[in-house]
Amino acid sequence: MFEVATKVHDERRQGEAFAPTIADEKEYKRRFYIESYGCSMNFSDSEIVASILSKEGFGATPHLQEADLILVNTCSIREKAEQTVRKRLTEFRKLKHKKPSLLVGVLGCMAERLKSKFLEEEKLVDLVVGPDAYRSLPGLILDADDGQKGINVLLSREETYADISPVRINSNGITAFVSIMRGCNNMCSFCVVPFTRGRERSRDPESIINECRDLFNAGYKEVTLLGQNVDSYYWTGTLPSKEGKIDAQFWPPLTPPTGENNTQPLLMQDADSNSDTLKSEVSEILSSPVGREYYAQPLLINNSGKNKDTSKSEVSAWLSFPVGGNQGLGTQSGMVAGVAVTFASLLEMVAQISPELRVRFSTSHPKDIIDEVLFTMAKYDNICKYIHLPLQSGSNRILQLMNRSYTREWYIAKVNRIREIMPGCGISADIIAGFCTETEEDHQTTLRMMEYSKYDMSYMFFYSERPGTLAERRYDDDIPEEIKKRRLQEIVDLQNKLSQQSNKEDLGKTFTVLIEGDSKKSKRDWMGRTSNNKVVVFPKNGFNFKKGEYVMVKVNDCTQATLLGE
Ligand code: 5AD
Ligand code: SF4
Repeated sequence: MFEVATKVHDERRQGEAFAPTIADEKEYKRRFYIESYGCSMNFSDSEIVASILSKEGFGATPHLQEADLILVNTCSIREKAEQTVRKRLTEFRKLKHKKPSLLVGVLGCMAERLKSKFLEEEKLVDLVVGPDAYRSLPGLILDADDGQKGINVLLSREETYADISPVRINSNGITAFVSIMRGCNNMCSFCVVPFTRGRERSRDPESIINECRDLFNAGYKEVTLLGQNVDSYYWTGTLPSKEGKIDAQFWPPLTPPTGENNTQPLLMQDADSNSDTLKSEVSEILSSPVGREYYAQPLLINNSGKNKDTSKSEVSAWLSFPVGGNQGLGTQSGMVAGVAVTFASLLEMVAQISPELRVRFSTSHPKDIIDEVLFTMAKYDNICKYIHLPLQSGSNRILQLMNRSYTREWYIAKVNRIREIMPGCGISADIIAGFCTETEEDHQTTLRMMEYSKYDMSYMFFYSERPGTLAERRYDDDIPEEIKKRRLQEIVDLQNKLSQQSNKEDLGKTFTVLIEGDSKKSKRDWMGRTSNNKVVVFPKNGFNFKKGEYVMVKVNDCTQATLLGE
């Protein structure tokens, strides 16, 4: 297996079935079973779906045989993910033969990508529902009960499911995902996500804070704020006020960034003489039948200019913004209007819920992560010192073909800045081997970048061409599979060495560990995580600890993936 399991895209969770954490006393007429694949966003979406269905009288079951409705929340990011789901659907069809009233539905990215193909050609399913259409599920189920196939794959510019309180699935009761935005505007040339999840939109901060606070009050000790590109979180609107000022619980007074040292090499799009060609190619895609279906207006490449790096003028604009004075642009009774919330300010609001609540986030984009975020992380002990910073490739030529908008020099400057502001901060990456035209030299540059960045862990993939993407239209998938796999193996081997080295450096050190539950291998051991996201296993040893407690653990041994402590 090439993909290293982490919390963000955990291989061990693929295909996980719904099992409600809290015993549900309600009487239900029908039962649904849901299986999830892909990224954390999909797992988080399944919790939204569970909430919508439970309001409609559907109870969850972890047992296929008990289900009246089987849902698969799918992933399209690589071909292999789609194949796995197709196989699973064929198995479900067999169950349908035995129980004709059984409904089978496909949710998520594959539903969006393949649309009616599932219904018409393959006749595998009764329902096809895209990531922005989950509210229509109850109606579509009624249609399907009447023998009509139900489909809704409309993408939305507004849907954030802000008001839906997710039902926690397979939760340990300690850590939870909270979605803060949906979609992605980046158009990385290899990636299908902008097509399957639509345009980027940010969820309102009040609903995010409320969800996190409710989780904390229910005993959770860690929230992970989720988005495809959290650094471009940006929300404007109205927040509750107290005495004419924004209620401090929604707008804590921020500490201004103090760093001056923020000179950076250029982002690729600033220097890129090819960017006009690329832009016209993107608008070509978007005006094609496929593109038109997804976007009503042309999409800008890298349009998150609002979040470019902090220049001095931006810092002073930031300081003069309502933050310090706690004032919005206008007030109405009990509310302050005209408020803009960035990712840094959202992070701070969540961190202020309680010092006992750990805060994580994923995913950051190297072109967008800025000093305010790093300073906010440094300021709060409960914001975990860990950043997932996808590299994809170390070669500038390949990064440009990938439309990643940064150079390796820019990426190096970001890693330096993280280490300068937060020594000891964990860093992980996503890496793709064998992208179109990748030479041996490009590959070697990726390995050197890994050595430089000293990742604690990585998700590593070989390139899988996805229909409809910029790369599929523009470049030949010309690296033979055996070369892709050999390069991927070299990347995996190097990452294993780096992870081992990183863990060895922790021997003898003591860390604050949040206990998440029993170790998978033995009930006599606890399993928890450090702030920088390392898994620690240590003996229960008769101490009276409980899960959800913070404990100091001294590391006395390690494997490549785990620290062992006492
Ligand atoms: N082929 C291989 N890996 C991909 N990813 C996204 N699209 C592809 C693809 N077509 C990887 C990227 C991304 C992660 C979520 O999945 O590394 O960051
Ligand atoms: Fe895909 Fe790039 Fe958006 Fe990530 S940032 S979801 S890789 S388009």
